[in-house]
Amino acid sequence: MKRVLVLTGGGDCPGLNAVIRAIVKRADQEKDWEVVGSIQAFNGVLWEPTQIKVLDQAAVKGIHYQGGTIIETTNKGGPFAWPIKDKKGNWTSVDRSEEMLRKLQFMGIDAVINIGGDGSQVISQKLYEMGLNVIGVPKTIDNDLSATDSTFGYQTAVQIATEALDKLVTTAASHNRVFGMEVMGRYAGWIALNAAIAGGADVCLIPEIPYDIKLVKEKLESRFYKDRGFGIMVVSEGARPAEGTMHYERSQEVGYENLKLGGIVHQVLRELKDAGMKADMRDVMLGHLQRGGVPVAYDRVLAAQFGVKAFEMVLQEEYGKMVSYQHPDIVAVPLKEAIDKPNFVTPDNRIIQTCKGLDICLGAEI
Ligand code: F6P
Repeated sequence: MKRVLVLTGGGDCPGLNAVIRAIVKRADQEKDWEVVGSIQAFNGVLWEPTQIKVLDQAAVKGIHYQGGTIIETTNKGGPFAWPIKDKKGNWTSVDRSEEMLRKLQFMGIDAVINIGGDGSQVISQKLYEMGLNVIGVPKTIDNDLSATDSTFGYQTAVQIATEALDKLVTTAASHNRVFGMEVMGRYAGWIALNAAIAGGADVCLIPEIPYDIKLVKEKLESRFYKDRGFGIMVVSEGARPAEGTMHYERSQEVGYENLKLGGIVHQVLRELKDAGMKADMRDVMLGHLQRGGVPVAYDRVLAAQFGVKAFEMVLQEEYGKMVSYQHPDIVAVPLKEAIDKPNFVTPDNRIIQTCKGLDICLGAEI
């Protein structure tokens, strides 16, 4: 019997379970393969005792529409930076990658499918260079990976943000208020722009276009006083003023190396107030609501396609590659290419022209 290890790493994302189920169902058609899952990314392999779960048809029954991941996930630690306490009691990290590869061999693992975002795929590439038979499956609600046309989870996040905007519009109109709603996306403005268009926002601030608060105020006031009687603004968590820096915190959580974004919407409302805006204003941070719950149908289908393709890549021994959606096909691209550059919004992107055509203020003259 051959054995493929599946794991999910980084932030969770609607559609992860649909990928796992698709891998298991496709593998089940080959009589000589067993699928096992490592709990919390590679941690399940690294822990003593290991935490590995057999993923058979019974384990994945009916999970295609469930949010989260049945094998859990983490964005802390990993084989190259395993947190430990030094002699003085301070947290530091050690490289356990060699030891992990030996463990995987001992466990009889023939191939690994790593479902994760950019951070996870950097780990996949490093392990591939060390000799691991690994395949990547791209995952992120942020849609910030350039080697694939889209990632699953992203459309669900846009849908959740749009539904939230629809709700804000009715309360904003009833109370004559301006609302700022912050969405996720890290350094990419895709969720914000799509939700702003779908939800009829007046202003949309994204990380790729630093904003001038004067232009934001002008647009909101004109919508508030001249035509709408209220105002709706979408703010991406990575947005930043033209004069200033991104709003973030360093996390105190052990092994967490990402910057913690979130909260810029409060600053934008403060800046508007300081600039003399008189309208009543309220803010909402959608946060992790955008990652929870069931995936929309589009994401379930994309996730299923990724899962089936990933296992077929194992059969064809296409290691060191990542599954990628390149319309209308699902193809394999080298992991190296996949982690090479992120997918950020550029000024010439059609979505920017669409926002301009709809008179959505992006906070700058572009
Ligand atoms: O990358 C996905 C994402 O949801 C980002 O949009 C957000 O900044 C980040 O993860 C939050 O991650 P955490 O789970 O660490 O709060």
